[in-house]
Order: sequence, then structure tokens, then C-alpha cells
Amino acid sequence: MTILFKPDPVVGGADAWRAQLAKRLPDVPFRVWPDVGDPADIHFFLGFKAATGNFAGMTNLKAVLATGAGVDGIFLAEDVPDVAIARIIDPWMTEQMAQWGLYAVLHFYRRFGDYQAQQAEGDWNELDPWRAAPARVGMLGCGEIGQEIGRRLADIGFEVAGWTRSARDLGDIENFHGEDGFASFLARSNFLICLLPLTEDTTGLLDAAAFSHLPEEAYLINMARGRIVDTDDLVAALDSGRIKGAFLDVTEPEPLPQDHPLWRMPNVRITPHNSGNTNADTAADQVAENIRRALAGEPMLNVVERGRGY
Ligand code: GLV
Repeated sequence: MTILFKPDPVVGGADAWRAQLAKRLPDVPFRVWPDVGDPADIHFFLGFKAATGNFAGMTNLKAVLATGAGVDGIFLAEDVPDVAIARIIDPWMTEQMAQWGLYAVLHFYRRFGDYQAQQAEGDWNELDPWRAAPARVGMLGCGEIGQEIGRRLADIGFEVAGWTRSARDLGDIENFHGEDGFASFLARSNFLICLLPLTEDTTGLLDAAAFSHLPEEAYLINMARGRIVDTDDLVAALDSGRIKGAFLDVTEPEPLPQDHPLWRMPNVRITPHNSGNTNADTAADQVAENIRRALAGEPMLNVVERGRGY
């Protein structure tokens, strides 16, 4: 029984995963891509991204264990074998992303970018505070991470709603759902936080047409995948003031090329896809438990619905 780990900068290196899994599954051989050895030995593929052909000859594969919260990277391979695919729901990642999301909203809400520009000029000047009261946050995507960020923003005074594909009870967070609810959800969201999975349906979802529904004072915060946003439409919307600012942890393409206009827009903040990296120290619990379950014929945790893509 062997694990094959495919490294990716977003999910931690092979040494960390090897060490953490060795503590939990001491006797299980751990191979690191591209040193696959005999592919028939591989029972578990552990990784963030795959490519067509990666699974060739893995006739004994029992499961694909994605090392991220999003599994779009696994489906980059067109030939993912017909085995269960699980994703990571990691408390450490949720915590990190909640901190990042709160900072991004507060950055614009309290005009920290404007004050930083003033500071560069030695300009002691009080700017107008937020006037479009109440400040409304829209969580686009309400899984564990989206709900957690939404609750925390509600705790510090924001009016929070969440959009989901079908109606959901989100407790204190108002729910908008489906295509019918999309425009009205956007229309009330000053701070639109994207946490959707990347699927065929969500690719390019946030384009000029979507932006046209946003209120006058609108900011985009993308912590999901760059391809959910039409980048050219975003640049145009930021240029025209249709969107006042964007905080992006993800871009299309990634890494963002050095000469891309987004880098130089004063109303844009960019971090390199690290709002919430997977931490092998904590995520290995779930991976080890899923290996145990798969071997015992029990259903794994956080299994992805293949047809849905998340
Ligand atoms: C990171 O982007 C993840 O999906 O975990």
C-alpha cells in the first residue's frame, strides 16, 4: 500500500507531508512525484493538481486525496480514475482565510490604502468615513470557509448575506439563491467576497454583466480562483470606477505576469494565492483518517461530487 504525493507550492512540500503522515501511518510507503515507481503500487494519489496521463497504470488506485479545499486542480486531468475523491477541510486553513478576508474588507472599509498613499506624501488629512451605511458584505459561496468569514464579519458589524446555488439555511446570514437571486444579491453587496469552487458554471461568472448589478460603492475580494473573474472586465471596471477596489489572492493567470496592469492599479491589493495554505500538520489527520476509511471500505470524509465538481 503506497501513497504518491504530487507537490505544489499551495499545499506544502513533500518533507512536511512525509513527516506528518509517517507519524500517523508509519508503515505506509510515501513516494514523491515524479518518482512514481511501478504505478500499480499506488493506492492513494495525494496532491493539489493533476494532469492528463498522471494516473496512467494506477490500476490499484483506491482514492484521490486532494490536498486543497478546491479540487479543480485534480480535474485538470481528463482521465481521473473512477475512484472517490476527497478534499481538505482544514481548521487551520479556515482560520487563516477568515483573518485574510476580514483584513481585506477592513482595508477598503477603513480606507487604509488611501491613508497609505497619503502617508507616502506625509499628508495628515482626515478622509471621509464610510457613508453608504450599512456596509453590506456578500459571501459568494457559503461552504465552511464562507460561512465562517460571514459570521465573523457579522460579529464586527457588517450586514452579511450569502449566495448559494439552492436555498440554504445560513442561520443569521440572509440567503439569496439560484440564478434568480443572483442579481439582487449583487445589488446589495458592497463587499463581494468570492469563495466559489471553480467549475464550468462559475468560470467567468464575475464579468462586466455581473459587475453592472453591484451597488455604486463596490469592492471585489477574490479568495477562490482567478478564473471565476473575467480579468479584462475587472481591469475595465476598476479603471472606470464601476468597482472601487479589489483585493485578490488569486488571479488569472497565476502567477500574475510582472507587466500585468493589475499590479500597478492603486486600488488593487494582491497576495500570491496564500490566503489559506493547507498545513500538513493539521490536514494530515484527515488524510490519514480517509486512508483508514478507504481501506476499511467506509465512506471517506469530505468526498467531492464528481458531476458537480466540488
Ligand atoms: C487552495 O487554493 C485550496 O483550494 O486549498
